[in-house]
Order: sequence, then C-alpha cells, then structure tokens
Amino acid sequence: VASGLNATDSFLVCLVGAGVPPRLLQTPASPSYSTTLLSSVRNLRYVTSDIQRPVAIVAATEPAHAQAAVRCGRRHGVRVRARSGGHDYEGLSYASLDPGERFAVLDLAAFRDVRVDSARAEAWAGSGATLGEVYYAVAAASRVLAFPAGICPTVGVGGHLSGGGFGTLMRRYGLAADNVIDAVLVDADGRLLNRTTMGEDLFWAIRGGGGESFGVVLSWKLRLVRVPETVTVFTVRRSINQSASHLITKWQAIAPALPSDLILRVAVRSQHARFEALFLGRCSRLLEHMRVHFPDLGVTQSDCEEISWIQSTVYFAFYSSSKPLELLLDRSGETPRYVKAKSDYVQEPIPRHVWERTWSWLEKPEAGLLILDPYGGRMGSISPSATPFPHRKGNLYNLQYYSYWFENGTAALEKRMSWVRGLYEEMEPYVSKNPRTGYVNYRDLDLGTNELEDNVTSYARARIWGEKYFKGNFERLAAVKAMADPNDFFRNEQSIPPLPAAK
Ligand code: FDA
Repeated sequence: VASGLNATDSFLVCLVGAGVPPRLLQTPASPSYSTTLLSSVRNLRYVTSDIQRPVAIVAATEPAHAQAAVRCGRRHGVRVRARSGGHDYEGLSYASLDPGERFAVLDLAAFRDVRVDSARAEAWAGSGATLGEVYYAVAAASRVLAFPAGICPTVGVGGHLSGGGFGTLMRRYGLAADNVIDAVLVDADGRLLNRTTMGEDLFWAIRGGGGESFGVVLSWKLRLVRVPETVTVFTVRRSINQSASHLITKWQAIAPALPSDLILRVAVRSQHARFEALFLGRCSRLLEHMRVHFPDLGVTQSDCEEISWIQSTVYFAFYSSSKPLELLLDRSGETPRYVKAKSDYVQEPIPRHVWERTWSWLEKPEAGLLILDPYGGRMGSISPSATPFPHRKGNLYNLQYYSYWFENGTAALEKRMSWVRGLYEEMEPYVSKNPRTGYVNYRDLDLGTNELEDNVTSYARARIWGEKYFKGNFERLAAVKAMADPNDFFRNEQSIPPLPAAK
C-alpha cells in the first residue's frame, strides 16, 4: 500500500488500515494541528520554531489505536512520544531536540476515565486523567478515601505516576507510584499487557522509572488510602524581618521528623518563606504538635482551617479552601508560560549563613522561587529499590528551583535560565553528592542527554544523568529496557537505554 509514499504517509495509511479513524489523526497540514498540539503544552520554551514538532498527532480513544500507533510507528520509522498531561518540564512529550527525528505524539487525553471502587478502596484511572480529576472522583465516592499524588491538579496521571509523584500525603502514604497495584500497558510490540502478563520487572520499572522508556501505559489501578473526614491546613508567611532564615534553617531538621500524618512544606520567594501544612486530624492536635516540635513558627488557632481532604487539594492548588471543587476538573490550567526547573536532595541541614545569602538571589528581578518538600515518615521506610525512585531514607527534603516567565525572547530566557543555573551551582556544597541527585519528574536536561551508538541509546552516556535520578536502580532499569524494548523504539532525550549484553 505504502510504496511511493514517504514514511509519514505510510504511517498514516497503516493507522487507518488498522482501524484508527482519520478524524483522530492530524498532521501539520491539518487546520486543528496547532490547537491540538498546544492543548496541553505547559512550557512555551518548547514550542519555538527551531524545535522539532511531531509529524502527526494520534488522538487515540481506544487501546487498539495506541497499539496501532506503536506497530505502525515501528514498521514505518516513526517514533511515538506518549503525552498524558503535557506537563513535562522539558517538553519531551511533544517536542524533540533532534531536528532529524520523525515522531508522532500519541495523545492520551481521551483516556481519562476514573472508576472508583470505594468498597475495595481501589480505583482505575486512565493516563490522560488529571490529578484533579482523580481527586474529584475519589472524593465523590467517599469522604474518607484519598489518593497520594502531586499538588498541581492539571498534571497528567500518565507522566506523574511514571516518575513517582509526590504531594501532601507522601509522608503518610509514600508516592503515587508506591500505590499503583496494576497497569495496562502497550509494549514495544504493540501488545496490551497487564501486571501479570508484563511481569514484575516491567511492572517495577514503570512505577518511577520515568515516562516513555518502556511502553505506553493506558491506565493504572490505584490503591486508595484512608483520610479522616476532617483534616487541618494552615499557611503562615514569615518575612526576612520575621526571622525567615532562622525558621527555614530549623525547619530542615524538624519537618522530616514530624509525625507522618503532618506535612509542613515551604515555598521561599522574594523576601519571605511561606510555610504550608496539612495535618490528617483536627486543629487542636496539630497545634500541640507545633508547640512541641516547632514553637518558633508561632502557629495559632486562627491560622488553622478544618476542612475535608478534597477541599485541602483545592487549598494547596488555588490558595483558598472556599473555591469550588469543580476547579479540580478544569484542564486548562495556568496561563501559558516559559518554565525552567531543577532539583536537589538535601541530606544535611543547609547552614543559616547560606540561607541568608540566598535572599540576594531571591530579590533579583529575574528571580524564581524555591520549593522545599520534606520527606521522612513513610518515605523513609520504603526500600530505595522497592521502585526505581531511590530517594528514601537519609533525604531530608527535595529542593526545587523553579522559574517561570511570560516575556518572549532570548534576553528574558537567558536571564531566567542563568538565575536557576546560578543558584543551583551555588548550592552544590550543601546538597547530595556522588552523585548529586535529582527527581526525574522535575526533568532537567542540564543533567545530561542521550547519544546514540549504532542507532541505540548509549548506556555509558545515559549513566551520566541516569544515576542522578535513579542511583543504583539505573542499571536494573536498563536491564528491564533490554528485555522489554531491546530495539530502543521508545526513546527520547532522557529515556533509559538498553543495558548492553555483557561482552
Ligand atoms: P507529559 O504528558 O508531558 O509526560 C511526561 C513524560 O512521561 C514524557 O516523557 C512522556 O512521553 C511520558 N509519558 C506521558 N504519558 C505516558 C504514558 N501514559 N505512558 C508512558 N509514558 C508517558 N510532580 C510531583 O511529583 N509533585 C507535584 O506536586 C508536581 N507539581 C507540578 C506542577 C506543575 C505546574 C508542573 C508543570 C509539574 C509538576 N510536577 C509535580 C511534575 C510532574 O509530575 C511531571 O512533569 C509529570 O511527568 C507530568 O506528567 P504529565 O502526564 O502531565 O506529562
């Protein structure tokens, strides 16, 4: 059929032949191509004209469409990048840094069913569902069930669970990926597999090994967790003049050691630190904990709000608990922006004089913010090899350097990027070492990018970034890759390479 056609046309013909309706296929010539491509793009840095765009978008609505995308892609030399929520910090679900790469976006936005079985405390969630949709569906089914995952409600389930996923319940219940009990995956041969048929190694790899490398996950079976009907939240802001440096310095040892039903995170920007807490209980008990563990913060009853868990998800996402829960269902998200982020793990408290120096960075006009998420609790009791996510015991907190801006152009870009990179460099003596680790879901291409050797991703080169995200689990991930996708079909700038056969 495809003789005389170019690879993209052959790919499209193959898809239609496999039963994918043409209305689900778009190419740059289609009128709605740009709208669809941009529909879930979260980082404008990756929609500039010099970035390679997909030759096609496959807006799959059924598993068979995703299977056909993989099979036809392999047959006709078109790679497939899966996109769930489009929040990748480096745009890897919709853009390629290789100008020669021919790839299609397999858009999973239509796979967004969330089915909750409250009697069994389980749910199935499609990869294209957002975290907000999951939270909303779980809370609609039960007032005492929840799912532990990230804070931003427009993040997609597919990428988030693939890389770990942490939020306000992690100290009690671990990562989102720790609470996955089954999954449906399209593998590199286009087969539809579940936990039993994919086997435990592949099931291990997809729960934290980062998106893209092992196949396309269509849906996930989640273990839901118990929360009380009433939880308590507070936010207190302390400025430099209100001893913010002293409080952040103390916080570093206190927050990771708090009882696991309490999380106290910090956002630091401009001239102040914002301490945000979620406690799985009432205000009176929370205040007792704060009096015992962190009296200097000076939290009082008037800071507390007693609400339901689902309201707390609105509270952390939109800074107010009184906003309607339906906001969780709004997939459009924030105003499009340019983003650059980096991350560190902190294992020893950073000295106070360093925090004092940090204010001069945060006061700059081009400054972003720092987000400090404390670990400890359940995070510290899960083995570092239980999932590919290795940052467990011994890590006090995750430190995220986050910059966003709205101005177009290279001047703004360079200033913001060098702010993030400069502060990251300055923090080097105070964070994890050998390797200096980071969180794969805070994707950072500065850590290294892949290179090909004989048309397969180089293992030696990928180790440079891979051990920073996965430490000792990187080699096992590469071994799983060699088994599940030896030809390296699923690949991107930071995909797991197949482990070379021992010579
Ligand atoms: P996207 O669709 O861009 O995919 C990300 C990667 O996974 C890509 O490589 C993609 O190809 C691959 N992929 C996507 N779907 C797949 C599938 N079904 N099967 C296989 N591979 C797939 N993280 C966190 O832990 N806690 C938090 O609170 C937040 N908050 C947050 C806020 C904001 C505004 C952003 C932009 C990001 C976060 N994150 C986060 C990080 C977030 O977890 C991370 O970017 C996820 O990978 C996003 O998943 P999406 O599906 O949205 O991304």
